[in-house]
Amino acid sequence: MTEYQKEIMRFDKIRRIEHWLLFISFTTLAITGLVQKYPNNAVSLGVVTLLGGVQIVRIIHRISAVMFVLEAIFHFAYMGYQLYVQRKKATMIPGVKDVVDAVQATSHNLGLRKDGPKMGRYNFAEKAEYLAVIWGLVMMGLTGLMLWNPIFTTKILPGQFIPAAKVAHGLEAVLAVLAILLWHFYHVHIKRWNWSMVKGTLTREEMEEEHGLELEEIEKSEVAVPISPVVLSKRKKIFYPIAAILTIVLASGLYAFVTFEETAITTIPPLEEQGTIFVPQTPTPLPTKAPTATPGPQTELPAGPLTWETGIGAMFEQRCGSCHGAMGGLSVKSYETLMKGGKSGAVITAGDAANSPALLKLADGKHPGQFEPDELEKIIEWINAGATK
Ligand code: HEC
Repeated sequence: MTEYQKEIMRFDKIRRIEHWLLFISFTTLAITGLVQKYPNNAVSLGVVTLLGGVQIVRIIHRISAVMFVLEAIFHFAYMGYQLYVQRKKATMIPGVKDVVDAVQATSHNLGLRKDGPKMGRYNFAEKAEYLAVIWGLVMMGLTGLMLWNPIFTTKILPGQFIPAAKVAHGLEAVLAVLAILLWHFYHVHIKRWNWSMVKGTLTREEMEEEHGLELEEIEKSEVAVPISPVVLSKRKKIFYPIAAILTIVLASGLYAFVTFEETAITTIPPLEEQGTIFVPQTPTPLPTKAPTATPGPQTELPAGPLTWETGIGAMFEQRCGSCHGAMGGLSVKSYETLMKGGKSGAVITAGDAANSPALLKLADGKHPGQFEPDELEKIIEWINAGATK
């Protein structure tokens, strides 16, 4: 084994377990979240079907969210132990050196500098990523809990916060996933496959490149003088109760938040039988002047066949005239203009109501102008009888 291949311990077991917890919860959150953000995507539909429906996807999402937060609580408790009891250095805090390192690393990558910077236990890229996880935890945690408890949230905050939280939650998720795929993947898997979170170690060569300063410290064996057991137990006596109380408070806060509200977002199964869908007669964007009010259905229609002049013209004017008149294209203002038709030609086929474009256009009920059923009957009768003036 050459000197370069020598393995140097980097992450203890606790850190590696933490990383696995983070890996599992983050990945599950990302998958079950993105399929909800992009529900119509083919991949999303496949995943949702595979998992057994959106309701199950939501439950899995929430379980992984709780796992993520519990891991965060543990992380902070352990951090407290290392900082207070063991008096370890806070190696994650960014400083001016990180800015300098970033500039030097960039110029080294561009070939403008021979050597890369010598970096400590956590280099600037790792610190940025760590802070991004903390930021993500806060953002996703807050907006996630708002979406989880929308009724409670609206007791404190205005209602607009719910859709705003939804947008923020979804977009922050996209950002986080992209950051992991681009930044994290590049740094630990593409640049060089980094096993330290699995095996716990890095080779000397990797350490030299990314943590040169730490390597120097390790090799000068600048190991801290062991703390005397008396001091240690004194610190533990202070640390444990505080950590226990804080953990209990946070964990019960989390428990309360995830259980106390029957959320308003239960998925309702679609109706078996769809009723008549309300189609509001909103004008399409084309008309510039407001369409004239359309009076209600005429209850009395004269018996017997009608002509354009004895009533058909009036019906067209009433139901279609507000749009089909002044705007060019089809005009129902006179018998002649109606028979001339619209942009794609004649709209009335005399003698054949079933094939008249004007009626076909209305057939699906979606066109903004519609005839009443009894009016339609008269118009069909009129067209079939030859659509006379
Ligand atoms: C609120 C406005 C509005 C009303 C009311 C309305 N339409 Fe239209 N209609 C449009 C617009 C906009 C278009 C063009 C876009 C399209 O084809 O959907 C159109 C297009 C059409 C066309 C196709 C014209 C062509 O150039 O080929 C027909 C036929 C038609 N309408 C029939 C009717 C009939 C019959 C009525 C009355 C029952 C009616 N419309 C009422 C807005 C309206």
